[in-house]
Amino acid sequence: MKIFSVLVLLLLLSSCNAPETKYISFNPGQEWLDNNGIHINAHGGGILFHNKKYYWYGEHKIAGEVGNTAQVGVHVYSSNDLYNWTDEGIALEVDESDSKSDIAKGCILERPKVIYNTKTKKFVMWFHLELKEHGYDAARSGVAVADNPTGPFVFIKSVRPNQGYWPLNVQEFHKRSVSDTIKNSYCGGLGCLPAHVDSLNILGRDYENGQMARDMNLFVDDDGKAYHLYSSEENSTLHIAELTDDYLSHSGRYARFFANRYMEAPAILKNSKGKYYIIASGCTGWAPNPARSASADNIFGPWTELGNPCIGQDSLTTFHSQSTYILNVQGKNDAFIFMADRWKPENPIDGRYVWLPVYFENDKIHLKWTDKWDLSVFND
Ligand code: DGJ
Repeated sequence: MKIFSVLVLLLLLSSCNAPETKYISFNPGQEWLDNNGIHINAHGGGILFHNKKYYWYGEHKIAGEVGNTAQVGVHVYSSNDLYNWTDEGIALEVDESDSKSDIAKGCILERPKVIYNTKTKKFVMWFHLELKEHGYDAARSGVAVADNPTGPFVFIKSVRPNQGYWPLNVQEFHKRSVSDTIKNSYCGGLGCLPAHVDSLNILGRDYENGQMARDMNLFVDDDGKAYHLYSSEENSTLHIAELTDDYLSHSGRYARFFANRYMEAPAILKNSKGKYYIIASGCTGWAPNPARSASADNIFGPWTELGNPCIGQDSLTTFHSQSTYILNVQGKNDAFIFMADRWKPENPIDGRYVWLPVYFENDKIHLKWTDKWDLSVFND
């Protein structure tokens, strides 16, 4: 009888710790609770699959006006099934003791992504970094490393990528000297730019000190080479840059695409036919806009734009969201999930996640809204 009571007690106690919600589907745009019953806090995120587990890294936001600045760091969650996520804590903490640190509390630290380097056995995180109290002027990329997927990640450095390197598809006019007129003609914000950014030669302007890098993503190809995709040249042009073998620096091999298209939030996939696809957004701050898609047979192009991949109602706002990552579902062929953020700038911590399946049709990709779905869509 005594043993029976103890067993009942243990059962009751363990059920108190059980997740309040056990998900068996994705519910785009709804609150998404972690194992503690708290809305997942991993915005602008990305996924790493390692040793049979998924890890979701993203910006830890807080409530209120300062919520979009980095007050805490990068949050990480783990999952076996993609529906239910366990809080693994803060993978990279902002620096609270040194206000001069690149990642001082109050900096802007966006769109963190993590990849695993099989040679060095390190987990490598890259993120978009803006220095504290300098708005979005710095346009830098930060890198941090860890021995474990859940961290702690140690900040190594921040850079303006590809300093002193021309892209593979540089044009002669980029190499001409950048006159003072050109240097001074950009006055910040989109309003002051002329019809085409090439006439400003922002690439040439930044050749010596490194290229601007804001919204970003990472991609590891089948041969283990890793690439950093980032919005550059005052956000006007997307750069795709190869990383060094340890993934900690840029190799100097890069190319520029979609000049003057102002693409942000780039996300990339490669399917079993060896075709690369990019989904990105336009450039309208926190407000959603129509997504763009593009494909290529080679990561260094040529890239062909394919138009808005979204179909149906709310396709012009990407279903009220903005891309952040394309997740490759393990164990299934050509199964990809488009991950996006429904930002809430007035209360960033309440930002929602929009995850939708990617459909391939005639060498194009499509996204359709669905209120509820599960991984069985990939069985067809
Ligand atoms: C849009 C970008 O995609 C976000 O990551 C963020 O930088 C906001 N702009 C800031 O307005």
